Amino acid sequence: MTRADPTDTTDGTTEAGPRMTEPVTAGPAGLPDDGPVLDRHPGLRYFRARLGGTTLLDVPAPAGGARIAAKCEFENPTGSVKDRVAYALLCRAVLEHEGPEPLKLLDYSGGSLVRSFGQLGRITGIPMRFAVPSTIPESWLRQITASGVRVDPVPVERGIAGIIDRAFAVKAEDPSWTLLHQMRNKANVAVHEWTTGREILAQLDGRRPTHWVAAIGTGGTLTGVARALRREFPELVVVGNTPDEMPYGTDGPPNGLTKFAGSGGLGHGVRQPFVAGLAADARHRSVEYGGALDAMVRFEALTGLRIGTSAAANWQVAWETAASLGPDDLVVTVFPDAGAAEEWERAYARAAS
Ligand SMILES: Cc1ncc(COP(=O)(O)O)c(C=O)c1O
Repeated sequence: MTRADPTDTTDGTTEAGPRMTEPVTAGPAGLPDDGPVLDRHPGLRYFRARLGGTTLLDVPAPAGGARIAAKCEFENPTGSVKDRVAYALLCRAVLEHEGPEPLKLLDYSGGSLVRSFGQLGRITGIPMRFAVPSTIPESWLRQITASGVRVDPVPVERGIAGIIDRAFAVKAEDPSWTLLHQMRNKANVAVHEWTTGREILAQLDGRRPTHWVAAIGTGGTLTGVARALRREFPELVVVGNTPDEMPYGTDGPPNGLTKFAGSGGLGHGVRQPFVAGLAADARHRSVEYGGALDAMVRFEALTGLRIGTSAAANWQVAWETAASLGPDDLVVTVFPDAGAAEEWERAYARAAS
């Protein structure tokens, strides 16, 4: 049986139940006003104070080619780019929630967004429930469950579509959960457009970015930053990066192969709606998991900095892109996190073998 497109909103319903019919657009209006949310949950101020404002770092690049600058998102409160998204989604949900029942948040995550929400749940007391892949690193799972998030593991073979379906099934069984649906929630793109992207613009120091490389999970980072950069640099080339084991838009079904973190195609030819709708002219590259692990070790040897598998895959694609360009060009990319302990064990074991 061909699976239903997990992101399809055309008829408002799916196998799993009703869908949000949010138009996939973003703009200043898409970024929730956090003022009233901070008034209601003052503890969020400490998270907010450490959110964003991350370093744009010049990183090793091929000799004679373009330079590479990377946005160091591991500097965020839980060490992930998804802290920005979690904060924006939470603010939007709090602002739009209509009682009388207390707000309870439901979504799906490869492992990063749910860690961010774990911390936000501790601060706000809002109950959280997340569908996650069964292969989520053990150290992350311990952290997530300790923070009080209820976790629904889904067999990894079902891929991203499987965790989305599971969250929709929970919503269908118990409509009292507010489903965030990060792959279609306009606050996801908006937070990258109005924070990550705008920060990069302010950090370029007169340099002109020619290429923007980012891994695609929901495509929020790729698309939001592309929108911000293209307002000033319309010629910017957008390069999406997905695992070789499950590339963007692949016709194949989801599979259980290990992939670089937080990213991947959806299978059955389905494309992430943000990317398909807002960066239709994007180029696409893919990186094998083993290659990403090797790049982590190589990058650490060159810089002393630890980056995760998706960051290493982005650096790899940025390097290949930069090699075909000249010294006046600038490839901007993102380092979403610094990697789980389990990924580092695998990377070192591979390097030693
Ligand atoms: C480690 C990591 N890298 C990359 C991404 C992709 O980010 P986006 O969802 O904005 O496409 C994610 C998303 O969860 C992630 O967790």
